[in-house]
Amino acid sequence: MTMTATMNGAFGAGEAIRIDAAAAHIAVTRFDRPTLVVDRGRIAQQYDALAEGLGEARIHYAVKANPAPEIIAMLVQRGARFDAASRGEIELCLSQGAKGSDISFGNTVKRPSDIAFAQSVGVELFSADSDAELEKIAQHAPGAKVYLRVIVENENADWPLSRKFGCAPGAMAELMDYARGLDVDIVGLSFHVGSQTKEARHWLPVLDQVAELWHAARAAGHDMRVLNLGGGFPAHYDQSVQGPQAYAAEVMEAVRARFGQPEYVMAEPGRGLVAEAGHIAAEVMLVSRKSPDDLHRWVYLDIGMFSGLAECAGEAIRYKIDTLRDGEETGPCVLAGPSCDSADILYEKRPIQLPLSLQSGDRVMIRNCGAYTSSYSSVGFNGFPPLEVVVL
Ligand SMILES: Cc1ncc(COP(=O)(O)O)c(C=O)c1O
Repeated sequence: MTMTATMNGAFGAGEAIRIDAAAAHIAVTRFDRPTLVVDRGRIAQQYDALAEGLGEARIHYAVKANPAPEIIAMLVQRGARFDAASRGEIELCLSQGAKGSDISFGNTVKRPSDIAFAQSVGVELFSADSDAELEKIAQHAPGAKVYLRVIVENENADWPLSRKFGCAPGAMAELMDYARGLDVDIVGLSFHVGSQTKEARHWLPVLDQVAELWHAARAAGHDMRVLNLGGGFPAHYDQSVQGPQAYAAEVMEAVRARFGQPEYVMAEPGRGLVAEAGHIAAEVMLVSRKSPDDLHRWVYLDIGMFSGLAECAGEAIRYKIDTLRDGEETGPCVLAGPSCDSADILYEKRPIQLPLSLQSGDRVMIRNCGAYTSSYSSVGFNGFPPLEVVVL
C-alpha cells in the first residue's frame, strides 16, 4: 500500500512523502549494513500498470535490473516473460518456475556453450548484432529465432546504452542477407531507446528510425514478425516522470502507427518495473570539511559506487536521500562512498542538499533504488560487504 503524508521525525519529514511498505520497514528496522528493501507488491502494481499500457506487447522483465529470486517467482505467477543476459539468468528464471520458451536471450555477446544450453532448455529467441554472433547461433542453436539489435539514438536517456550493442543502421541490410546465407531465421528487430528515457515522446524519432529498417527488411523479403522494444521505461528519482500506464500507452500508440500489428511485440522493462519498489537503508559514516573555510561538507555513507550505487557514475542517476533530520536547514554536500578508491564519489559536480545537523551514525534512506543496485554491488571491495537484499 502506498500513501502520501507529511511526518515529523521520520525519513523525508517536512515534505509530502510516500510511505510505502519498503519505507515503513526501513523506518522500524535497524540494519547493521546497507540493505535494499524491496516490496514485491509494489512491483506487481507496476507490472500491471505497464502491462495495461503496453496492450498486446508482452513484458520480458530484464532480469539484470534486480535478480532477486522472489521477484522472478512473483513475476512468473503474474505471467511475465523474461529477458536474460547470461546462462546464470536463464537458470535463475527456470529455477523460479519460468518456462524456457518464455525466456529470450537478449545479450548480443554470448558464449557458444551458453547458446547451446539455452536452446536445450527451450529458449527460442536470441539476439545478435554481428555476423560472428550469427555464426555462433547457426552452429550452436540451429533453428533458433533471432532478432537483430540496431543502434539507435540515445540522446534523451539519463543512462544511455548507445554504442556498445547494436548494428549500425546502414549495415543492417547486409547483416540480414548474411543471416539468410547461414540459414538463420531472422524474425525481427530490437533496439534500446536508452535507460531512463523520461518522456515517451522521446521514443518517436527512434521508432521512426527502426520502422524505416523494418519496412526495408520486409521489402527485401525478410519475414519480420518480432518487434522488441527493449527497456527505457523510467523511474522517479529526483524528477517525477509520467506514470507507467500512460507512458507505455503513448509508446504503443506510436508503435502501432509505424509498425501496424507485428505478430509479436515485446518490451523489456527493468528499471521501470522495479526501481520504485526498493529503498536502501544506509548510514552516515563521516561528515567533514577539507578546510575550515570549505563551503561544502563531505558526507561519507556506508554505501558507494562499489556497493550498489554504480549508477551515480557521471552523476547520471540522482537518487533522493532522506534523513531523519529532514525539515531542518540544509546545505550543499559532496556525497561519497566508504571505500579507499577516489572514484567512489557519488555527487560532486552537482552537490546535494542535506541537513546541516547531519552527523556520523545517522541513518539515511536512499529512495527508489530497486533497480541496478544489488546487481551492481561488488562482492566485497575494500572489505565492505555486498548490498544485502530483503524482499517483502
Ligand atoms: C537488452 C536489454 N533489455 C532491457 C534492458 C532494461 O532496460 P531498462 O532498465 O532501461 O528498462 C537492458 C538494460 O541494460 C538491456 O540491455
